[in-house]
Amino acid sequence: MRTDNDSWDITTSVGSTALFVAAARALEAQKPDPVAVDAYAEVFCRAVGGSWAAALDDPEGESRLRTEDFGTHFVNFQGARTRWFDEFFAAAASDGVRQVVILAAGLDSRAYRLPWPDGTVIYELDQPRVLDFKREVLEARGESPTATRVEVAVDLRDDWPAALRAAGFDPAAPSAFVAEGLMIYLPATAQGQLFAGIDALTAPGSHVGIEEGEPMPAPAFQAAKAAERAAGGDAVFFALVYNEKFADADQWFGAHGWDAARTPLAELLTGLGRTLPPAGSPAASMVNANTLVKAIKK
Ligand SMILES: C[S@@+](CC[C@H](N)C(=O)[O-])C[C@H]1O[C@@H](n2cnc3c(N)ncnc32)[C@H](O)[C@@H]1O
Repeated sequence: MRTDNDSWDITTSVGSTALFVAAARALEAQKPDPVAVDAYAEVFCRAVGGSWAAALDDPEGESRLRTEDFGTHFVNFQGARTRWFDEFFAAAASDGVRQVVILAAGLDSRAYRLPWPDGTVIYELDQPRVLDFKREVLEARGESPTATRVEVAVDLRDDWPAALRAAGFDPAAPSAFVAEGLMIYLPATAQGQLFAGIDALTAPGSHVGIEEGEPMPAPAFQAAKAAERAAGGDAVFFALVYNEKFADADQWFGAHGWDAARTPLAELLTGLGRTLPPAGSPAASMVNANTLVKAIKK
């Protein structure tokens, strides 16, 4: 159940979704033919331990990530999404962008694992306890970022642009903003503020990458929420998402002076040689609802 000012750590509420996608990235990395390898994803799951570590070790285990009808496709999805955003950042860097803003950074380890050009500054925005967990785990291993990494502990329903500027972000220099795995956890008003905030803070030549989900019809959403509640357990999803959409990101940015393009997740998966879920299945609905949008400010 969400409330306007709710907060969390890495194992609770929306915080645990960062662990869930990290576990999926760790499983993608275990494949003989991964489309993306995030070696830190496994480190985070093992630091938490329990069922999060077990999910990586036991193919027959209880994790939803190990199920054929859901887990296989979710892991494929996260592998493809990770690769898409890795390529997004490589393109921004090769265009000369040296300021990066990761909205809802969660357990994104790109500040540690990508080869950033000299002078790159990466701002990571998320709730304070999520950022604390990531820093503590990586510091304990003696890991160092490959760029200057600046934590901005803030709720993205609040005035995050002010927090970002206070942390040193320069709106006059080109930047790259990403919202990966975020939009569905924000109400439509905060999504609108997010788009406007990005637009207001960006100079020409800036890049934005957004993963967006299409809301479900209201009756189907209510039914899915009720079924999840009835099933019990702590694996929740529908209770955490808002099922709202402010605007299609490509349309919104296109109308605000950006060149925007959308890639449906299904197209991305097919291009990477991954099998799509059977038509009509819940996993197919998940894949078909998802789109990756990239825009460059003119
Ligand atoms: C599914 S995870 C995605 C994390 C990361 N972008 C990735 O793809 O690995 C969702 C993240 O959004 C963050 N988040 C969601 N709503 C937020 C809010 N209102 N303020 C700050 N962070 C938020 C959560 O803390 C969590 O880290």
